[in-house]
Amino acid sequence: MSIGNKIITPVLLGILLSYHVQGQSVQKEREKYRPQIHFTPQTHWMNDPNGMVYYKGKYHLFYQHFPGGNKWGPMHWGHATSTDLVHWKHLPISLYPDSLGYIFSGSAVVDEKNTSGFGKDGKVPLVAIFTHHDPKGEKAGRNDFQNQSLAYSLDEGNSWTKYDGNPVLRNPGIVDFRDPKVMWYEVGKKWIMTLATKVRITFYASPNLKEWTKESEFGAHEGGLGGVWECPDLFPLKLEGKTYWVLIVNINPGAPNGGSGGQYFIGDFDGKHFTPGDNKTRWLDYGTDDYAGITWSNTGGRKIFMGWMNNWTYANEVPTPSWRGAATLPRELKLEKANGEVLLKTIPVKELNNIALKSVSQSNIQVKNRLKLVQGNPLKSPFKLELQADQLKDFALSLENELGDKLIFGYNEKTNSYFIDRSKSGDVSFNPEFKKLHTAPRIGSGKKMDLIVYVDVASVEFFADGGLTVMTDVFFPQKPMNQVYFKTGASNAGYILKKVKYTPLKSAL
Ligand code: FRU
Repeated sequence: MSIGNKIITPVLLGILLSYHVQGQSVQKEREKYRPQIHFTPQTHWMNDPNGMVYYKGKYHLFYQHFPGGNKWGPMHWGHATSTDLVHWKHLPISLYPDSLGYIFSGSAVVDEKNTSGFGKDGKVPLVAIFTHHDPKGEKAGRNDFQNQSLAYSLDEGNSWTKYDGNPVLRNPGIVDFRDPKVMWYEVGKKWIMTLATKVRITFYASPNLKEWTKESEFGAHEGGLGGVWECPDLFPLKLEGKTYWVLIVNINPGAPNGGSGGQYFIGDFDGKHFTPGDNKTRWLDYGTDDYAGITWSNTGGRKIFMGWMNNWTYANEVPTPSWRGAATLPRELKLEKANGEVLLKTIPVKELNNIALKSVSQSNIQVKNRLKLVQGNPLKSPFKLELQADQLKDFALSLENELGDKLIFGYNEKTNSYFIDRSKSGDVSFNPEFKKLHTAPRIGSGKKMDLIVYVDVASVEFFADGGLTVMTDVFFPQKPMNQVYFKTGASNAGYILKKVKYTPLKSAL
């Protein structure tokens, strides 16, 4: 055999082939936790989703990215687009660090009226508003090293130019002063920037995205105070013809199950002030792996949310050698009246139905103790599971593999709470916090059980009671989980499941 003019002997061919096979298995091992239906960077580090904007049929997703390694480092904005929120096309990095610093989190808007003046020859500018984080200022112990800056695109998000007047909003001396989320406030014909300012939110307004004036502050007495407030979002949502304003505030640490998490407030915004309906702290997701989540801009009345499926407690240590960090599934946020309150509910976007394979449904199955939920072949990952019963009682669902790894989640009647136990789910050694039990209060009421679960290679996301209680956790089994069991509690040995529907999902990679 010859390649070019080189003669390859059978021995050499054997060596080459074995290298190839070895290479392939090393590669396979390195990729074993790669999610199939969640966005991940091709290589290296990602954290927060950024600059999410819908424009001309494309959902743009930018994200905090360090292309130089697998741990957090000098931040860039990575870029991907999708036409259906499920299949993502990786694109070149959009924003690189510069003399003003790293490119931290922020948002992007369609400046339809060209208020910024960046538009040219009738081209509508997309404008990104982000935090410039100056590492030198930080090192020097200054308190003004985070400032807000702009970049714009005149080719529908493909290439970006930083504004030469950056920064547009200077730091007044607040160490944590970042993550601008900008929206057009039609009533007042002005842009509103919602900015995380240590343990407060500060609202700014601008006619042109370049000049900003402070409107008000929110947060001295409301919400979680266990950490720094980051990545906020403000938007209106309608319920029964009435407009409510939702304010999302991510916090790290201080989430209900430790580390990073997202809280929300519902109230009113008059163009200057946000007034919450009450002082209760409510959480978007009680799992530990949904952080820095915000919504797409320019999607009309539909609000689509995505978070970073990770937690700062162990984000730099999770055992994914080829890349680190993933996004949650895209989810739609809606309002619902429950328990006499207006609450947010979260449901995975309907576009996920496009990757559904043939589902298997069973009805009226009586469970005594433990039942293998999907009979026959091992489960394919990823999959969706829908469960319904007339009575919500103690239960546990257990995802398992032949090596004995178990990821257990379910409901505890006594405490009226849902839970996820990942203590025996595979590799939990990289951080002592990872093994902890996570619990979530049942927010919905009524007797019925209603659960939607999405399982990917290394994550579980469950939406209980129509999305009123949500939990998202990652886990790292030694081999893919390929069985799922339903276990009843001691007090209800005769659970009747009205409906169990298992839907394998096509990989979106
Ligand atoms: C949230 C966050 C943001 C910041 C970014 C830096 O995870 O800390 O506040 O802009 O990450 O990467």
